[in-house]
Amino acid sequence: MLLKEKLSDRTQNMGENIIREILKVVSKPGMISLAGGIPSPESFPTEIFPELFKTVQEKYKTEAFQYGPTEGFFPLREALVPILKKEGLNVSPQEIMITSGSQGTLDALGKILINKGDLVAVESPTYLGALSAFNPYEPQYIGIKSDDDGLIPEYLEEALKNNSVKFIYLIPTFQNPTGRTIPQSRRVEIARIIKKYDALLIEDNPYSELRYSGSHIKTISSLIPENSVYISTLSKLFAPGLRIGYFVAPEIIRHWLTLAKQGIDLHTSTLNQALAAEYITSGYLEKQIPQIIELYRPKQEMMLYALNKYMPNGFTWSKPEGGMFIWVEGPTHLEMKEVNKICIENSIAFVPGEVFFSNPDQGKNCLRLNFTMISPEIIENSIKKLGNIFKSLPNS
Ligand SMILES: Cc1ncc(COP(=O)(O)O)c(C=O)c1O
Repeated sequence: MLLKEKLSDRTQNMGENIIREILKVVSKPGMISLAGGIPSPESFPTEIFPELFKTVQEKYKTEAFQYGPTEGFFPLREALVPILKKEGLNVSPQEIMITSGSQGTLDALGKILINKGDLVAVESPTYLGALSAFNPYEPQYIGIKSDDDGLIPEYLEEALKNNSVKFIYLIPTFQNPTGRTIPQSRRVEIARIIKKYDALLIEDNPYSELRYSGSHIKTISSLIPENSVYISTLSKLFAPGLRIGYFVAPEIIRHWLTLAKQGIDLHTSTLNQALAAEYITSGYLEKQIPQIIELYRPKQEMMLYALNKYMPNGFTWSKPEGGMFIWVEGPTHLEMKEVNKICIENSIAFVPGEVFFSNPDQGKNCLRLNFTMISPEIIENSIKKLGNIFKSLPNS
């Protein structure tokens, strides 16, 4: 039997996740990886887990181990109310839905919204995982140009004026892969444009709590809640392995996302949701966030310092106020995919920028750097090494 022939047409649209492929190569001993996008294990509140488990068992007994509602474990939905309020979203627990990571919401959104050939507007570049989630549903993408302040509103307006766009997917704060943040004035303009064309925004916000300088900016969804699906996650603030995400959406979208989730996994792990509820309501999250910030801030500062010190002329990079990434643009003749091969031979790796573009001809001279997983000392050495590799290339 030729099992390959059994695969659906849809399956052909599921490309390998290139970052995961790079991560397999770079997991070899001695390799320094600037390629990952995962939180440091040091950011996990491991010391409180025994107590959390104990409280959950005492408080919820067998309920924590039972099937639960697709919408989510109610105490967690209640616990998320003040967190959403901070983002300008005044919602009741009933309007908050729990998902298996925000990735689970992205896939379900693709399922309920995208018909083959539909136009989806994304930032250029954007989160690879969103493209991977949407691709099987065969959309076409309009990549909207961004600058140092993120998505450029004029280009969004042009796209919405001239096309029937199914939805716009944005990561306005500490974007993956660039680290850029859309300032308040631009958010107001983007909200105005979305409202004007009665468009639908998917706002993905996993990083806003990881702010190392500057001040908090409220979400675009808070300006136009009836036109927005707001997605977030506890992956960067608790433990990504627990797979706890959540979203807020207009009622009809919430209804269909819930039905889609029933088909995918019935509900997110009840035990993990109960742990998350306790983590928030017992005040641990509030204590943990400053600790995570103190862990990451010096790493990011060191990476920016080292880029300044060691990169040759012709390179520019983002200067984010938070998040987990820095985006580097090199001279246009450089193909970062090829440079990454040389780097891997020298035991260092990054993610070539082109994987983050809906149009793979773009971003060839760009790369994404992550700073959460290694110490400031290793960050300095690795950027020095990277700078030396770039200096040794022909035409540099
Ligand atoms: C922009 C963005 N959205 C979604 C996710 C997925 O997060 P989760 O662990 O909640 O599925 C990530 C993870 O890196 C991300 O960067």
